Amino acid sequence: MYATHALNAADRHGVFAYLTRHSGDTAEKLAAALAVDEDSLERLLRVLSAFGILDAEGGRYALAAGVRPYVDREDPRFLMGFVDHLVGDTTGRFARLDGCLRVGKAETDRGGPAPFESLYRDDESVGRFLDAMWGLSHHISHELAALADLGGHRRLVDVGGASGPFSVAALKAFPELRSTVFDLPQVGPHLTARAADHGLADRLDFTPGDFFRDPLPPGDCLAFGYILSDWDDETCAALLRKAHEACLPGGRVLIMERLFDDDLGGPLATSVMNLSMHVETEGRHRTAGEYLELLRGAGFTDGAVRRSTGDKHLVIGHRRTESGTGR
Ligand SMILES: C[S@@+](CC[C@H](N)C(=O)[O-])C[C@H]1O[C@@H](n2cnc3c(N)ncnc32)[C@H](O)[C@@H]1O
Repeated sequence: MYATHALNAADRHGVFAYLTRHSGDTAEKLAAALAVDEDSLERLLRVLSAFGILDAEGGRYALAAGVRPYVDREDPRFLMGFVDHLVGDTTGRFARLDGCLRVGKAETDRGGPAPFESLYRDDESVGRFLDAMWGLSHHISHELAALADLGGHRRLVDVGGASGPFSVAALKAFPELRSTVFDLPQVGPHLTARAADHGLADRLDFTPGDFFRDPLPPGDCLAFGYILSDWDDETCAALLRKAHEACLPGGRVLIMERLFDDDLGGPLATSVMNLSMHVETEGRHRTAGEYLELLRGAGFTDGAVRRSTGDKHLVIGHRRTESGTGR
């Protein structure tokens, strides 16, 4: 609670933007530059120092070694968008845990909005959520795209691809590839803007739709990044069956997710996000074995797991060729 709120306040009031450009300053100078109250700022700076985010030497505050990429808006590893989502959305949703514990999730959720109805309640919320997803997913997507080895593919369909964190990385690594992001209509302008920013407008397009009602666009590679962890097993099975229908013979499906250890003892980040999924979505995190089982159930063959150096890993399934063989 303290670390997250302190990070968010420092980000929103420009402390990190200032300290990424200046080597270090006193609370007095920082408060004047940021037009904020000095006493409040100094208390905040001391908390950030105690957490090891800042160094405080001789009354001057500076970013601690190694922190910069995660607080610098210009860096692809910027994580403060996710922290903003934790404060703006997740914190409020945690009040629901009490109800879940007393009467169960189904009863707590009854009559309430579906997960993305409340997350996308207005334009600002859509932008905030998509920024959070970009921050969580884009950097590791370079590694995931390489692990997926997309060289043999022509058309990626990025299901629930958001503003394109995976598609952008994949298209930069594989120049022959084109990608369609299939997502809810309100996501479209954000994807189009990112595609233009990255010079990919001619290879990255958007198809608006609802993956519960509409068929998925056809492609030889269908990607699901942080999608299945939003939904229960039955819904995941239905989504993967749809992917199997949309996948060209000989093509592949990529599931990119956090993975629980086989004994469900960790990793810690997966355990906490699994609790978060419970109060924010209808999903949960799974082991690699559970994803392989879902893939088999939907008709995919030759399942394989490739682990990244980060929190998001890859589980691959193959669609049989017309002659009935796997790849
Ligand atoms: C947790 S985000 C994952 C974003 C991105 N794939 C990533 O890996 O960071 C879930 C995505 O699913 C999309 N989504 C949710 N419900 C959907 C639906 N019914 N049809 C299509 N997309 C949906 C959301 O808009 C959002 O972009």
